[in-house]
Amino acid sequence: MLIIKSPAEMQRQALAWKHEGLKIALVPTMGCLHAGHLSLMRQAVQNADKVVVSLFVNPRQFAPNEDFDAYPRQFRADCHLCTQEGVHAVFCPEAKEMYTEGFQTTVSVKTLAQGMCGAGRPGHFDGVATVVSKLLHLTMPDLAIFGEKDFQQLAIIRQMVRDLAFPVTIIGTPIIREHDGLAMSSRNKYLVGAMRSQALCLYRSIQEAQKTVELTAKAVPADTIVEATKKTVAEAGGKLEYAVVINEHSLQSETLVGSSSVLAIAVKIGGVVRLIDNAKLMPAK
Ligand code: PAJ
Repeated sequence: MLIIKSPAEMQRQALAWKHEGLKIALVPTMGCLHAGHLSLMRQAVQNADKVVVSLFVNPRQFAPNEDFDAYPRQFRADCHLCTQEGVHAVFCPEAKEMYTEGFQTTVSVKTLAQGMCGAGRPGHFDGVATVVSKLLHLTMPDLAIFGEKDFQQLAIIRQMVRDLAFPVTIIGTPIIREHDGLAMSSRNKYLVGAMRSQALCLYRSIQEAQKTVELTAKAVPADTIVEATKKTVAEAGGKLEYAVVINEHSLQSETLVGSSSVLAIAVKIGGVVRLIDNAKLMPAK
């Protein structure tokens, strides 16, 4: 497996593969890899000749008060996992090489970035869209794989790729969960003691909501779901940042639960660990 640090070298390698007619897949990550990331890599390996995993904790998507410095980093273990999965190259640039002196370009997707995580984390999605644009240019993939866990991020990337005509197919993959339903996340490492069981309130809210929809003959008002989620999160001692019932494509709030409705939740556990989760509220037909 190649370990590539230099952005210029990454682009040269990608070009060489393209000239050989090889299909490239990119899996962008911030490292600290878990089973959720591995499922993205498996999709990539199955669907491309060359798979690049980027390991880059992107400073531009963290606000000054967020956990950029504390964000877990485990480079050696990550490389080991990538090798096991059959990844061909890890791209792990330094921040100063991705954002060279005088860097002044921002890619900003407007409406989709406004609510939900965008409201609580101003500037976050500009940081994401900018770094993903640059990663796409450096790795020139035919496919790029993202998780549905970051539902708003995936919608924003799809929009950006459409708007700016990036020659890449974006693939979204389902959320991978722990045995008890907690969505896998690099930030789960921060959950110590009682916080781990408190964190289950996200998945519990989702399950309760799905049950309510399943057992109610008429269309369920979104407010009913949101109120129930508020109660479940409060009972667990979590601090709800948002709970919304949205349309899976437009991310606009819905008043009644329908076949395209998604419940998206963000909760702070123990006052510090911010977790997100989401799910469709009706089973796919
Ligand atoms: P990171 O949080 O490391 O996530 C990398 C990719 O893994 C994202 O597409 C995310 O949705 C996916 N992922 C995370 N947890 C998952 C789970 N439990 N099941 C399935 N997929 C999961 O998202 C980022 O990094 C960054 O914002 C990035 C896109 C790399 C830009 O810096």
